[in-house]
Amino acid sequence: MRCPVENPAARHAATLAALALAGCAPPSSDGGDTISAEASSSPASDASTGLASSTGGPLGPDDGTVTFYRDVLPIFRKHCTACHSPDNIAPFSVHTYEAAWPWRQAIAAAVEARTMPPWLPSPGCNSYTNDASLPGEDIATVLAWVHEDGPRGDIADAPPPAGDPATGLPRVDLVLSAPEDYVPSGSDDYRCFLLDWPHETPTYITGFHAVPSNLTLVHHVIAYRITPDRVATYEQLDADDPTPGYPCFGGPGGAESNPGAGLWLGAWAPGGVASPYPEGTGLAMDPGAKVVLQIHYNTAAGDGGADRTRVELMLAESVEREAFMLLWADLDWVGGNMPIPAGSPDTVHTWELDPTLVMDFLTDIVPVNSPFLIHAASHHMHTLGTVANHEIVRKGGDSDCLLDIKHWDFNWQRAARFTAPIRFQPGDVLRLSCQWDNTAGTKDVNWGEGTSDEMCLGVYYVTNP
Ligand code: HEC
Repeated sequence: MRCPVENPAARHAATLAALALAGCAPPSSDGGDTISAEASSSPASDASTGLASSTGGPLGPDDGTVTFYRDVLPIFRKHCTACHSPDNIAPFSVHTYEAAWPWRQAIAAAVEARTMPPWLPSPGCNSYTNDASLPGEDIATVLAWVHEDGPRGDIADAPPPAGDPATGLPRVDLVLSAPEDYVPSGSDDYRCFLLDWPHETPTYITGFHAVPSNLTLVHHVIAYRITPDRVATYEQLDADDPTPGYPCFGGPGGAESNPGAGLWLGAWAPGGVASPYPEGTGLAMDPGAKVVLQIHYNTAAGDGGADRTRVELMLAESVEREAFMLLWADLDWVGGNMPIPAGSPDTVHTWELDPTLVMDFLTDIVPVNSPFLIHAASHHMHTLGTVANHEIVRKGGDSDCLLDIKHWDFNWQRAARFTAPIRFQPGDVLRLSCQWDNTAGTKDVNWGEGTSDEMCLGVYYVTNP
């Protein structure tokens, strides 16, 4: 028995095994991938006759039943096929009935648990322009469809394909590309590429979009600005490694991979749409600076080939309000005082401070003791992280939630862009809290840049009001 899965060697072997046990046969698959549901004890086997008809049969479109073509495919096209289609990062496709049907139970579980589509911020905290989560009514539709064992419906009911959604920037002024093709090795390969910045006058980045050439491999891309004074360190890292780029994890690499070493210019994960930075704002790049592209390659759904990721940027010679990436972490943690003991299932570290008191140490863009605007937030931990929260606690005691993550997943880091900027007033505090699970660990863990170290870091896109 074989299921029509593009890459059965996916990471989620347990899920795949469970599906195989449940009998993962589409009832009306007509391709070579047809498999019998004989091993099945699921309702799939006895429903197969009724569902085999391409015109709907007893569960057709006329009786009000939720069908794949009329009701479910539009949802999948909008929220899933950016990753779940052939030659893409997800281990199976949902772009056709035959491809999606065998996965219906896993799909129900994933959308109900809100683990798919991947979007870490939990609802009820803040609202985001790039919220990728599935609306409640769409979850209900998918669950109803699976509950009826996945009626096919009439293909004529399918909405016309919308074509590729516009994912790029409105204008591309500069393309920076990794210098050569790279074939990742191992199942997870974190690679950094050092790229030259061509402009000889100060320039502002006003929009960011990463474009991998091989979507089956690239799990996330983070671009860091390397200021001219640090360039030599990164050139050395690059020179020390004979392969293209150099290995790095959790940052731009090397012993300097701490907050402040490289400022985030932008981050991307599959399905991510480029958006310009807020109107009139941008991040400054000085002549002589460089860009490090950190790419997380995951080979589980990979085609064995190479990738050469490029970054498309929108630029401006001047902006009304220069933005900066406020990196937020307790310096005490960074100094090695963030213990996560071996065996602990739920270590929490929380820290709060009014950044306006120390703004002159952080940037020369926003003056000390002055209000500022936060436009977007990203969170960063490593792989032991479980829960994270970012909030502003107001002088009067109220609080405003910026970003709340109940199920951290290192693989799905991306910025959450606020629907409306949130104003920080002197006297408020910015509170950051992280939780980790080190139950399986045999060693105490602390702040550091290695795969087995941890971090707890907020990254905010900030401007003057
Ligand atoms: C941003 C890319 C992306 C989007 C969008 C996405 N998926 Fe996934 N999905 C993946 C990847 C990659 C995997 C493989 C496991 C992993 O890496 O988490 C996966 C795994 C799954 C699995 C296997 C079980 C599991 O939870 O790991 C199911 C089921 C699933 N996706 C359903 C969906 C559905 C349904 C949608 C749309 C409503 C969707 N996904 C949207 C990337 C995506």
